[in-house]
Amino acid sequence: MKRSVINLVLFALFGSIALTTSPAQAQGKGPAAKVYSVHCAKCHSQDGKGIPSLQPPDFTDGKWQASRSNKQLHNGIANGIGVMPGFKGVLKPGQINALVVYVRSFKKR
Ligand code: HEC
Repeated sequence: MKRSVINLVLFALFGSIALTTSPAQAQGKGPAAKVYSVHCAKCHSQDGKGIPSLQPPDFTDGKWQASRSNKQLHNGIANGIGVMPGFKGVLKPGQINALVVYVRSFKKR
């Protein structure tokens, strides 16, 4: 409980900074790309479309992207959603913020 409050405060402080990182910069390289490869790609695949049998959202789908707030993505990654486990015990809040930016970077233009 206390920890999640601390996470929220940290997110409020640093989230806005992390979320302004350019998506083009985030895609395919940098620390978030590494974390994604290690923890996320097995379900969401390296191209963000996901493993069909798990029915994860297609991160390249602009409609899906528009339907989700950054806060929802952050909560999903931190606490888990459906069959996806939460990562707040594994990743630091700053890493989760960077992953939100990374997930956004899959959106097709
Ligand atoms: C065990 C497979 C699995 C792993 C590992 C996994 N995910 Fe997911 N993820 C899913 C599935 C399935 C969903 C759809 C859940 C649902 O809507 O019921 C999902 C949903 C999401 C969502 C959408 C949340 C929302 O608001 O709808 C995001 C963002 C996300 N995952 C990011 C990540 C990131 C980043 C990682 C790595 C840290 C990760 N996932 C690891 C399977 C996984």
